[in-house]
Amino acid sequence: MCGIIGYVGKKSASPILLEGLRRLEYRGYDSAGVAVLDQAKLVVRKKLGKIDEGIARLLKAEPVTGQLGIAHTRWATHGVPSDKNSHPHFDQSQKIAVVHNGVIENYDALKQKLARAGHTFKSDTDTEVLAHLIGDCYEKRRGKPGANGDALTQAVCDALREVIGTYGLAVICADYPNLIVGARRGSPLIIGIGKDEHFVASDANAIVAHTKKVVYLNDYDVATITPDRFDVLNLGTDTATVQISQLEFSQEDAARGKHAHFMLKEIFEQPQTVLNALRGRLDFEGATAKFGGLNMTSAELRGIDRIVIAASGTSWHAALVGEYLIEEFAQLPVEVEFAHEFCYRNCPLEKNTVLLVLSQSGETADTLAALREAKRRGHRALAIVNVVGSTIARESDGGIYMHAGPEIGVASTKAFVSTLAVLSLLAVHLGRMRNLPAKRALEFLRALEALPKQIEAILAQNNSLKKIAKKYAQADDFFFLGRGYTFPIALEGALKLKEISYIHAEGYSAAEMKHGPIALIDSKTPTVFLVPQDAMYDKTMANLAMIRARQGPIIALATEGDKQIKKVANDVIYLPKTLEPLYPILASVPLQLFAYHIAMARGCDVDKPRNLAKSVTVQ
Ligand code: AGP
Ligand code: GLU
Repeated sequence: MCGIIGYVGKKSASPILLEGLRRLEYRGYDSAGVAVLDQAKLVVRKKLGKIDEGIARLLKAEPVTGQLGIAHTRWATHGVPSDKNSHPHFDQSQKIAVVHNGVIENYDALKQKLARAGHTFKSDTDTEVLAHLIGDCYEKRRGKPGANGDALTQAVCDALREVIGTYGLAVICADYPNLIVGARRGSPLIIGIGKDEHFVASDANAIVAHTKKVVYLNDYDVATITPDRFDVLNLGTDTATVQISQLEFSQEDAARGKHAHFMLKEIFEQPQTVLNALRGRLDFEGATAKFGGLNMTSAELRGIDRIVIAASGTSWHAALVGEYLIEEFAQLPVEVEFAHEFCYRNCPLEKNTVLLVLSQSGETADTLAALREAKRRGHRALAIVNVVGSTIARESDGGIYMHAGPEIGVASTKAFVSTLAVLSLLAVHLGRMRNLPAKRALEFLRALEALPKQIEAILAQNNSLKKIAKKYAQADDFFFLGRGYTFPIALEGALKLKEISYIHAEGYSAAEMKHGPIALIDSKTPTVFLVPQDAMYDKTMANLAMIRARQGPIIALATEGDKQIKKVANDVIYLPKTLEPLYPILASVPLQLFAYHIAMARGCDVDKPRNLAKSVTVQ
């Protein structure tokens, strides 16, 4: 959901802003723009399209110089992607420039009020209205001393008090050549601390090349940033809590390296990222798993009587696997909710119901809203998150980091598999506090420990997977079918294919197909069948036969050594043998590669699929 970067210091802002935009492009890429204070004049360059084809070319043709600047890469919510709707937006005086991530819900009423006061607008965006509101407040504040420092900061505070909606924003003004004002409510914003220079950004990927010292702003924080200092106030409480954190990843971690795409790099990182998720958490002596950050005593954990798991998208698919794992290993009732549904349907929660949210970014607005709703109702909210210091991580009562490293590809891969690994550990941890026998737990921990090598073995099949994928790349429709533990993976495999190849794909229960959807099967509709040798094998094979009987082409994911599958499937992808609850992890990897190679065969932009953004920070 859009990327923001700002710079104030002694260096030329333009190259820093452009490189930062490139590192933020995965967050949204409809258009991009920069505003730089160039010889006391605010100069804006902005262009529709992706960075290299758009703003980068424009800046090469019409460079700007100056040491103060802000920049934005957009994921449109109000106003189609176009040059005029690109950020930064000016106020009426053209002395103030604003970049914004989020949605100003009352923008229409504000726009009418400002228009009645003579304001004229050039774009269809809500952000331009915010820029004009700040400019209007600034005109009223100029020349009047006030409590909150300079007139620009005061004007931003005044404007934000009138705003309903979400924002992560950065503001600069021609009257203040060394000042950026930043603010956040519902969309992330961080300050990067340099030597005689400071940065502001939507996330740390944009600035990790310059500094590893950051401050994560909280909702209602307003930051005043100059080359040699920064101050933070809070619109709600007036005193902001400022904590300096150290980034744990490097510029290289967030770089693409030798891989053609971030998505491919992240797929191939999975042996290591699963290792990272397990590291220090396998307790063979106690036949259990251990965590450092749940912030719950054993008695409190034992006292949980139900878990609601709330998430969105791919993380919601992980939640479905989590339900099976925790119910099987801990015999603890689990309910999975779409985060956006949980917030608004007022589902009954018992006294000891705990909410668990899953989120790679830790910034998904729907999921953050679910966490806040559970806490509002007095329930403990735990989180499994990848991005350290993200809003969900900081607002949860406790949780577990995935340690998957930066995930840049818009289609989530390594973070999904790491979430499954962490959920597996959590299921054992909770189970061993209840009736899970040590023997069963040890067998499961050993199988978990074997996963990284098994994922490597699957990755070694990449070329044969590519051949299979290319055979089906021109299909218009796909089914992905599974039962039991692999039913959520059928959903996930379908989402991966949809997201990056734009092929219509449906994930479905293999058993449920016969109740109607099988009518869609014909010789042109391939079905990816998840049919590992688990407890459901015979029944799943019977479902597979129903598809085959209707000439549906079948690509089967089966267990190594399965002799029967070759007779009934057009193509077979073999998985190493593992325990039934761990097939979701192994089966995810070939489906990621399958989607990747089909998307490549169709010439799609795998890392920046159309209409998508990496983190959806609007509801
Ligand atoms: C997954 O490939 C998609 N990018 C999307 O469904 C994503 O999983 C969803 O938006 C949730 O994101 P989160 O895990 O960062 O909360
Ligand atoms: N709502 C603003 C717009 O549509 C900001 C979108 C974004 O977060 O990129 O321009």
